[in-house]
Amino acid sequence: MALGRPRLHLRETDSTNERARVLATGGAPHGTLVTAEVQTAGRGRQGRRWEAPPGAALLCSLVLRRFDELLSLRAGLAVAEVAGEGALVKWPNDVLLDGRKVAGVLVEGRPRDGWAVVGIGVNVAVDVAELPEEVRGAAGTLGRQVDAVEPVLAELLRALARWLGAPAREVTAALAERDALRGRTVTWAQGVGVADGIDASGGLRVRLDGGEAVVLSAGEVHLGEPPP
Ligand code: BTN
Repeated sequence: MALGRPRLHLRETDSTNERARVLATGGAPHGTLVTAEVQTAGRGRQGRRWEAPPGAALLCSLVLRRFDELLSLRAGLAVAEVAGEGALVKWPNDVLLDGRKVAGVLVEGRPRDGWAVVGIGVNVAVDVAELPEEVRGAAGTLGRQVDAVEPVLAELLRALARWLGAPAREVTAALAERDALRGRTVTWAQGVGVADGIDASGGLRVRLDGGEAVVLSAGEVHLGEPPP
């Protein structure tokens, strides 16, 4: 079934990911889409909130029944394609334009029960000045008009259909072209190193000082050296 059907569009909801989760556990088919104009409890990664001024962002969640471990990166690639030529994917699932975060991807689900929800927020027409202070410094926008939200959704669904079906080696090759971290010093809870690409399982390869490599499978990485 095509991505985006059936579709539930809500003027206001807590979180489209939460609505999609309820639909998924109730048996909704692959491709079911939930969109909203406003979220009162939009979820970001690592327990953070996702905020967007009413109507100015694309807020959507898809129920998927066929997916693999590259899902969030596949979604990131699709969003980057829609965001534009220079858009980069910052592992594991941010999309940057001119170094600023214009979109985020949040995958939640229960693979053992055969479903995942991929939630995507894209700052289509967001005025960054309207975002909460703590995210303003890093946030960006596509800088389009509010009436571009629906066309961006249509474009995104087409790109997602392509990237969700693409062979893993095509996904990793495309990621290599849009990798925001490659060659950059990154810091994570246990260390510091230089990002060296994304591997076939979606992990971030990092080269350590001594030359050996580690693969980070999830979690948070920060650009730059750790604070002294
Ligand atoms: C992140 O960068 O932390 C991920 C943000 C994901 C936000 C989107 S907005 C639509 C969907 N519903 C949610 O509650 N979260 C995702």
